[in-house]
Amino acid sequence: MLLSRAATHSRKIIGIKTLKTLGNRVHMDRLNGSARLMIVSDLDSTMVDHDDLDNLSLLRFNALWEAYYRHDSLLVFSTGRSPSSYKRLRNKKPLLTPDITIMSVGTEITYGESMVPDTAWTQYLNQKWNRDIVTEETAKFPELTPQQEEHQRPHKVSFFVEKAKAWEIINVLPKRLEERGLDVKIIYSSGIALDILPQGAGKGQALSYLLKNFKVDGKVPMHTLVCGDSGNDAELYSVPEVYGVMVSNAQEELLQWYTQNAKNNPNIIHATERCAAGIIQAIGNFCLGPNVSPRDIRDFQKCKVDIFRPSHEVVKYYLFYERWRRAEVEKSEQYAQNLKSVFCPLGIFVHPSGGEQPFHQCIDSMAKLYGDMQGHQFRVWVDQISSAQIGSDIWLVKFHKWELSGIELQCYVTTVLMSLKAELPDGFSWVHMHQTWLDGSKAGDQTLWCF
Ligand code: GLC
Ligand code: MG
Repeated sequence: MLLSRAATHSRKIIGIKTLKTLGNRVHMDRLNGSARLMIVSDLDSTMVDHDDLDNLSLLRFNALWEAYYRHDSLLVFSTGRSPSSYKRLRNKKPLLTPDITIMSVGTEITYGESMVPDTAWTQYLNQKWNRDIVTEETAKFPELTPQQEEHQRPHKVSFFVEKAKAWEIINVLPKRLEERGLDVKIIYSSGIALDILPQGAGKGQALSYLLKNFKVDGKVPMHTLVCGDSGNDAELYSVPEVYGVMVSNAQEELLQWYTQNAKNNPNIIHATERCAAGIIQAIGNFCLGPNVSPRDIRDFQKCKVDIFRPSHEVVKYYLFYERWRRAEVEKSEQYAQNLKSVFCPLGIFVHPSGGEQPFHQCIDSMAKLYGDMQGHQFRVWVDQISSAQIGSDIWLVKFHKWELSGIELQCYVTTVLMSLKAELPDGFSWVHMHQTWLDGSKAGDQTLWCF
């Protein structure tokens, strides 16, 4: 699947601050208080299952996160990938926008959607580190094959090496570098990749640094869940007071590390589910909050969820929209009627092209599209939902709606006014909606009047 995602630079609206710089430290300021849950997850083979071409477990996680967690929790991606390789993955897979991105095995930290780099962290990593000396000394080991240039970073020198040879190098190399004044850490992952980093770097150290900063701000997350599958994730599970999940498909070296170092820690589990499904499983296992993804609910009429939040309303609507167009719900007139009771009769939809139509007319157009995407690759997900109560019973809600149709990916920046109505079964009524095509993405279909 090849998608093209435009650069996203729009700042969050609705009174939620995103980032603030104090001294030379960037502060994560989207939430006013401590996060209820902070998930720190690896990407390849943890959040992203490269064997799941439909990305279903990732989409299940996305729906769960946006409906129930985005408003008061933090999502952190922690990957071995360099910034360019991370961006490539984002263009290929339906990944949500994280609050914090840790890249290059804990050597690069950025904040927010605009990915503001943490320069204090980079400076700290300069201690007892000299990249030139590392390349000079490693050149003496012919069994080390340098990885491509893209994966070589200021504080990360990376190679490929066979398992049998790796242990010998891990034993010998740090001493040689120490004699030259350096203090390094060597990490072996997926039975093939060997990374050399400053001693203070790594995914675990980067997380400890974030937690230390949250402590200074008086905002330590109530719970932290770390998620991984390979050697470079092992450090994450040693950070004090975190819950941890090794997904079912975890690599041998991580499971071995666990057996030798953490077997008696009840806060770490080896999930029976793969990748993102294993993360959802861990949320349930440790009772960290809601653990049923809205994507797993086939019929919201029959299976009532007792959570009244605008975000849940939005996620539910777009699941219905996807299922309607894929013909995965029954074709019944009742659905259009139900929608009309939830979308205010006087409500207006402002189309990205600038035109306007009453909601109910749009619902009639959508009814005609039943099954038009049956048998096609068609998926819809929402990202970065934020909402603010702006009156006694009125909310302003903003989110990015992503629609994947074949290889075409389209993003709509959507703003909705919702009001709380006691007489409605799920509480919310959609009052007004405005969509724009995401800056940088090409104009979508100008004739399609559904939202
Ligand atoms: C990612 C990086 C690679 C690194 C590996 C293990 O695949 O691209 O450079 O060696 O993770 O940390
Ligand atoms: Mg991984």
